[in-house]
Amino acid sequence: MSASSPNPSAYSPGLEGIVAGETAISTVSDGLRYRGYPVGELAERATFDEIAYLLLYGELPKTAELAAFQARVAMARRLPEPVLQLFQALPKWASPLDVLRTAVSALAHFDQDMADNSREANLRKAERLLAQMPVAIADHYRISKGLQPIMAKQELSHAANFLYMLNGTEATAEEVRALDISLTLYAEHEFNASTFTARVIVSTMSDLHSAITGAIGALKGPLHGGANEKVMDVLRLAGGPETAEAWILEALSRKERIMGFGHRVYKAGDVRAGILKPISRRLAEAGGPALAKWEETAEIIERVMAEKKGMYPNLDWPAGRLYHAMNLEIPVYTPMFAMSRIAGWAAHVIEQLDNNRLIRPRSLYIGSGPRTVVPLVERG
Ligand SMILES: CC(C)(COP(=O)(O)OP(=O)(O)OC[C@H]1O[C@@H](n2cnc3c(N)ncnc32)[C@H](O)[C@@H]1OP(=O)(O)O)[C@@H](O)C(=O)NCCC(=O)NCCS
Repeated sequence: MSASSPNPSAYSPGLEGIVAGETAISTVSDGLRYRGYPVGELAERATFDEIAYLLLYGELPKTAELAAFQARVAMARRLPEPVLQLFQALPKWASPLDVLRTAVSALAHFDQDMADNSREANLRKAERLLAQMPVAIADHYRISKGLQPIMAKQELSHAANFLYMLNGTEATAEEVRALDISLTLYAEHEFNASTFTARVIVSTMSDLHSAITGAIGALKGPLHGGANEKVMDVLRLAGGPETAEAWILEALSRKERIMGFGHRVYKAGDVRAGILKPISRRLAEAGGPALAKWEETAEIIERVMAEKKGMYPNLDWPAGRLYHAMNLEIPVYTPMFAMSRIAGWAAHVIEQLDNNRLIRPRSLYIGSGPRTVVPLVERG
């Protein structure tokens, strides 16, 4: 029996430039827009909670719709006791991102809609995961430090409640707004690697929790979401404003990949990085010279990357610095990306199932020609 032949001319390494499906959720073609709205306007005029609603339901919420959505999410801000016990049982060295992936997988067993793949059930599950993921990050963070987890505050926004549950004190309005904007910018990005992973998983008629678990696995890598945890490493290696230029020139001559720069789609710069940069700078400068020096260092690296490589920062570059300026520990940075991107991932899972066709591409075979099996006794 023979299979249909793949089309070699359709091959593009890394699927670069390939259209792999349709979406009405966002586009990067004409500046980044979520459901038609420019991301800059959304960051300026709306909050992450409104953006999560927009991504899941297709429209910006009216006041009463937002209040009802926030109330449902707030009600779901807790983890089943066995998941908290699992956090206690995991090795101390487990990374927060790996723990979040495990937590989402474990949460599936406790979700009453687990086996229901209807649109309505997936929206309910999406809202619950939106609520539970920040709780999982914060609870595991505190347990890993020998601290008691903190009960969520129902009246707080996604961003404010996360900072409260992590630190045990309410953050300042400026910190909450800065985090909220970064979450808006992280929420959705078309067919990026983790979103595509989620769509592939659910295209088999698997379920939302499996898709999100897989998406978190894809996000982890430093070529994707893991890059925001590498930004402070880059800056520390650069040393400071005095040594940054020499360091970056040297690193480039060694052909090093500078985390936080470059993008598969944006070759002339990432609009999201431009939006977050002044916010990161403001918080760093407010924190004093020890923090402000990283902004100066970053500025020098940006200039040299543009001059020598024609390469520009992506969102992870200012986000890594912003979270550092907010005194957050590096291993929670990629989990924080995930607690925002859950909104986009879930919207894509629902969209995929609304008009599903199994995602099953072909490969170009480059292996050995046909061979005959020699039995083990004759192979020597
Ligand atoms: C995001 C990324 C994977 C996109 O890359 P891509 O479109 O697949 O491009 P490639 O990996 O094929 O790289 C093309 C060339 O640019 C170089 N390059 C890409 N990103 C680079 C970076 N951040 N620093 C230095 N050089 C880089 C590669 O080394 C390669 O050079 P070569 O042709 O001399 O071998 C890549 O830019 C990268 O690794 N960036 C750093 C990680 C990061 O910040 N990820 C977050 C993305 S939002």
